[in-house]
Amino acid sequence: MLAMALTKGRLEKLTVKLLEQSGYGIEPLKNKGRALVFHDTQKPLDYFLVKAPDCVTYVRHGVADIGVVGKDTLLESEDEYFELMDLGIGKCRFILASRPDHNVLTKMGHIKIATKYPHVATAYFKQKGLDVEIIKLEGSVELAAVLGLCDAIVDITETGNTLKENGLIIYDTVCDISARIIVNKASFRLKRAEIDALLADLRQAVKEEGIC
Ligand code: PRP
Repeated sequence: MLAMALTKGRLEKLTVKLLEQSGYGIEPLKNKGRALVFHDTQKPLDYFLVKAPDCVTYVRHGVADIGVVGKDTLLESEDEYFELMDLGIGKCRFILASRPDHNVLTKMGHIKIATKYPHVATAYFKQKGLDVEIIKLEGSVELAAVLGLCDAIVDITETGNTLKENGLIIYDTVCDISARIIVNKASFRLKRAEIDALLADLRQAVKEEGIC
């Protein structure tokens, strides 16, 4: 029996679709109501839906053997797990953005960066040789650049619509992001055959879809 933590929200639909294409019995996940744990109707597998950072926590503690979570969350996490597969879904990127004529990469003096991802932002500017002040926000990060709380933002963009609609432009790409499979370290030893079988099924579905 395996337990799988799925990230709810944007990744949820894509993950459920991929599991369905892999032959898994995910009907309970499609008609979920307010339930929190779902039993696969075809395989010895339980699913539960959680917020992205919690997905990593459940996997680290071994309550979930496997997790599906974005690379953005993994880059911020200091938890221990094995990252075993790029599912190629939920593709987006980390960017540096600001108002027009506000390129902080060429600015002198104190630089304020707003972000939900302080680790990612700090590592990015360190690699650029720039010392910046990080302002941690919980959401709608673009607003901070619009209202002047910061000089620029490090955030995720997918379609680019939020940036565009708020008059912001991209100055640099920090890195690409997609959904990953993570596995609890002990589970990988103790349930290796089941985990390998699940990974093989997902790999096949990813290949057939031409995702990667
Ligand atoms: C993310 C990100 C941007 C937006 C970008 O926020 O932080 O705000 O999506 O998407 P786009 O390029 O397709 O417009 P999310 O919707 O996850 O929530 P948040 O605003 O609460 O951070």
